[in-house]
Order: sequence, then structure tokens, then C-alpha cells
Amino acid sequence: MEFALKTRVVVGAGEHEKLGTYLSWRSALIVAGRNVQATGAVEAVEASLKKAGITPVSFCEAAPDPSLDLVEKGTAFLKENAPDADGIVAIGGGSAIDLGKAIAVMAANPGPLAEYEGPERFPNQPLPVAALPTTAGTGSEVTPSSVLTDTERQYKFLLWSKRIVPELAVLDPTLAMTAPRKVRLAAGLDALTHAVESVLSRASTVYTEPLALKAIEIIGRKLPQVVLGQDDPGAMEEVLVAANLAGLAFSQTRLGVVHALALPLSARFGIPHGLAVAVLLPQGLKFNLSVAQERYQKILASFGRQGDLAEVIRDFSAELGGPTKMRQLGVTAEEIPAMAKDASGSGHLAVNPRFCSLEDLEAIYQAAL
Ligand SMILES: [Fe+2]
Repeated sequence: MEFALKTRVVVGAGEHEKLGTYLSWRSALIVAGRNVQATGAVEAVEASLKKAGITPVSFCEAAPDPSLDLVEKGTAFLKENAPDADGIVAIGGGSAIDLGKAIAVMAANPGPLAEYEGPERFPNQPLPVAALPTTAGTGSEVTPSSVLTDTERQYKFLLWSKRIVPELAVLDPTLAMTAPRKVRLAAGLDALTHAVESVLSRASTVYTEPLALKAIEIIGRKLPQVVLGQDDPGAMEEVLVAANLAGLAFSQTRLGVVHALALPLSARFGIPHGLAVAVLLPQGLKFNLSVAQERYQKILASFGRQGDLAEVIRDFSAELGGPTKMRQLGVTAEEIPAMAKDASGSGHLAVNPRFCSLEDLEAIYQAAL
């Protein structure tokens, strides 16, 4: 058994304006999207870095589902405009943070990036990363993964390395409250799925299970308020912490069949990751039920609800306005065999509590259609 922590986590309203005080770098590349730039967050972080004697250079072209080409573009930008950067500051949702991690790898490695798919595949130590999530969901601020899109192959590509776990995570609810409600919903359902799959993982341990169950408890209590209720920094902070706890848990345990099946949905149909996992989670739970009944009871107890877990989760998502069927997201049956084949290569399947054959993967897709 092993449990490794690397990230210093700072939590609180307004903390992003103190970022410079937590870093001992001389220069930094900021990676963010234009939507985050428009909120003023990039400017505030730049000011904080300058005040601490750190020279910032900003690359504000992060986009959802970052492609391998975008990583190359960001790396070329860094080499031209910030060749002496001591680290990367990534501000945004999981996509911007994953892009920042990939640029950190490519700044220090010869490439090509396509050869680094899978666990621990690049030779050199990447630049350190400081992550400021603007959504409460992916947990990317503490995880060893970076999900990239190979647009040519319509394929989701995973970098997985302890060396890309950020050194610093700043959980600031004032940043997360800039996210629109439908983004909050997708992100929150992603965090819930991380926590549930981590509890069910074959690699779950006495260290990770309490983190994941606590995340489930907080999301059950607070996500409805964050998605449907009045804006409240306290509630948003709790959900940010829950997503972070779930990220810490799954960074150790990996995930399961739901995440294996979700990546092809996003790669082929451009479906936001949180909605893809949300629509698949109930059917993934039905598939795993026979081997994990005791853990389902623990999850229900933490969630504060009773009944059939798959139905409880489906109803929770539907009450918040989430999708319940893949068809609602534009998925067609013809793509199922190809998606199942892509999913069958996922490393997450190795820790799913029940063995999944290719036929099983197709059957779960069919049931979720
Ligand atoms: Fe996820």
C-alpha cells in the first residue's frame, strides 16, 4: 500500500490575489482561457506575481478539450516569450490545468508528445505547476493526469505521471463563482463520479476511502445549492474542497468503467466530460452492483439517501438538470462498437471492481443510450 501527497493546498476567498507569496520562482508562464481572462483573474494573478518579484508572461489561449496541437502552440509560445520560466501557473477548469501540465512536460522534454501517452513515459522532470481551479470538479489541481485530445484520431490521450502533480493548488471560491451554472453542474457531477469510482476501485485503501466518502457527503449536501440556489462563497468553497478530496482519492486509486467509457463520448461527440460521466454512472453502477454491495451502502450513507444507488444518483443528477440518456447528448448507436473498442484500452478498467469484456462495455453503452 502506498499513499503519497505532493501538493500544498491553500483554501479561501481571495487567495488567488496572494499567489505570489506562495511561490519562490523568478518568472512564470500563466496558462488560462479567454473566458477566465475576461473575469479579471489573470490580471489579478499577474499583479500578485509582480508584487512578489516574479515576472509573469500570459498565454490566454486555453480551450475546452485541449488538443495536442494546442500543447505544441503553448510550448512554442513559452520557448519564445518565457524561455526562463521557472514554472507554470494554470488558471481555469480541468482543461486549462491539463494544458498547463502538458506544456510543463513539453518545456523540458524533446517529444513528440504523442509518444508520451500512458504512465510515466517522458524522460525529464517537467516544470513545476501551480493550479488555480475555476470549477469545482476535475480535481486536476492535485492529480497526476492530463487529458488531451488527439483530434486526428478522435481519441482522448492521457498523460499520467506523479511528476505532473501540481506543487501548489489554490482553491478560491471567488474564482469558482465565475463559472456559469451549467458548468458548475457538469463539474460537480464529475467530482461525484470521481469519488464514487474511487470508493469502488480495487486500489481503494483505508487512506483514500474516507476522502472519497467525505467528498460524496459534501456534494450531496451542497451541489444543489451551488447549481440551483443563490450564490454563496461558503457553499462554493465546500464543493471546491469536495472536488479536491475526490481528486486526492482518485490520484491514488484511479477510476473505473465509467471514466473508461466517458472519454470516447467526449472524443467523438464533443460532450463535456462531466455530462458524459453523469449519463454513464447509473449504468456503470448497475454493472458493478453484484460485486460491491457493501460499498454501495457506505456510499448511500455518506450521500444521505436511501434506495437503489444507481437510481438515487440518476435522480440526483436529473433534479439538478443533468442528462439521463446519451441520446439527449446526440450520441448515436452506430458509434457504440468503435467507442467500446477505444474504451477497452483504458487503464481505468484494471481497477474496476468487476472485470469488463468488450461485450460488457457495449452493453453498458446500449443501456445508457
Ligand atoms: Fe472525470
